[in-house]
Amino acid sequence: MELEPQVLVIFGASGDLMRRKLAPALIRLAEQNLLPERFAVIGFARTTMSNDDFRSAIEDAVKAKPENDAWKWLCQRIFYCQGGYGDRESMERLKEIIGGVDSKLKLEGNRLFYLATPPEVFDDLVVGIRESGLNKSQGWVRIVVEKPFGNDLESAQHLNRLLWTAFDEQSIYRIDHYLGKETVQNLLVLRFGNTIFEPLWNRRYVDHVQITVAESDGVGTRGRYYDAAGALRDMVPNHLFQLLTLVAMEPPISLDADSVRDEKLRVLKSIKPFEPEEVDENVVRGQYGAGEINGHLVKPYCDEPYVKPNSKTETFVAMRLFVRNWRWEGVPFYLRTGKRLPKRVTEVQIQFRPVPHLLFPPETAGQLKPNLLTLRIQPDEGIILRIETKVVGMGMQVRSTPLDFHYAQLGTPIPDAYERLLLDAMRGDQTLFMRADEVETAWRIVTPILFRWQNSLEPKFPNYRAGTWGPKEADELIERDGRQWLND
Ligand code: BG6
Repeated sequence: MELEPQVLVIFGASGDLMRRKLAPALIRLAEQNLLPERFAVIGFARTTMSNDDFRSAIEDAVKAKPENDAWKWLCQRIFYCQGGYGDRESMERLKEIIGGVDSKLKLEGNRLFYLATPPEVFDDLVVGIRESGLNKSQGWVRIVVEKPFGNDLESAQHLNRLLWTAFDEQSIYRIDHYLGKETVQNLLVLRFGNTIFEPLWNRRYVDHVQITVAESDGVGTRGRYYDAAGALRDMVPNHLFQLLTLVAMEPPISLDADSVRDEKLRVLKSIKPFEPEEVDENVVRGQYGAGEINGHLVKPYCDEPYVKPNSKTETFVAMRLFVRNWRWEGVPFYLRTGKRLPKRVTEVQIQFRPVPHLLFPPETAGQLKPNLLTLRIQPDEGIILRIETKVVGMGMQVRSTPLDFHYAQLGTPIPDAYERLLLDAMRGDQTLFMRADEVETAWRIVTPILFRWQNSLEPKFPNYRAGTWGPKEADELIERDGRQWLND
């Protein structure tokens, strides 16, 4: 599909996201000839830089070779504007630069703004964009908003209201980069492009679902943000809930943005927010202490840069949720995420019920495991179905055998989430972006947990060693139901 001419204005262009994700995504899109012929990128940030400085910063970030054709093409279309976020004078300067670039490259007034700044300046930027009239143009104007989208229900509602003063909902693209992951989108194809799973995808056949987003890294240099946010805010209302909704949703009537988002919203609405005492029974938090990862000693969370020495911020969270609807009533969804866990793995595991009647001799029956469908989001992306098979020989022994598909077998590199999401925002497809009501409903579930934690006794942290699967309470949470985390 031919993209319309447009200018992409990135606020926060001297920052980490630009360097790590947006610049590499742009160059890869250019290499694949996916960017519009008439196109420009304007970086905006507080740092003083010339156009050339900015171009070289990007060149370094993407390690582009000056002779690379895609880079040569893109480089000529990159500009920079220095300014304060939202202040009148800076926004006027930006307006002039946009105007100049637009008429030179004939961009037809189409503008895509991208807020890649820390959230503290979102408000000023949106107000600045509105007051300088940058949201009005003869072409279309869209805005991409990075996470975190608020830090509780109230702040998310405030941000939505503010955005609506300058943009209509059809022009707002709230990013959750998990939705841009190839394997996350494959969940839709697995469920709705096959007939064999749907009849089993419900309370009659599914015993429970586990969703794990584990990271072996610590907080690195992001302590300032993370110590104020914590694992719950950082990962649950966005990434984990996106995985949950795609697993639990009903088939949408089509793949258009609102049909998909309507169904995802219905899942979130079917989760009853916890009462205060239910939080204690169903949610566990943890913080890592010193430990060992891959044979290396690592320091405790509280010794990480920019983290308060006696911080009570959680770096791990596990919870048990129920989706209260016809399909899922009574099926627990166990979610967990944490930093400094033994390995980096994101997966959704659907454990089916055991067979209803055992035909095999008692010693064999003990070996039978229930079927397990694993959707491995990363790394070693793939799908694995565990089935039971007979051990070859004269006896009647059984063992588990995987039927597996690994993306690596295809030999095609998997695009980064940001490539897909940038392209979708450029072409005006909101399917993989979060709608206002979805974000607010997610916060409606998470906010009572935050509230309970703020109003209960301080936790005794650290409560898990780096390099382990979280605090023992997380094991107890699932073991109480006679089940176990699947950590292989
Ligand atoms: C981000 C969180 O949104 O997602 C980080 O802020 C986390 O704390 C990251 O590390 C995980 O993303 P990915 O793509 O590496 O799984």
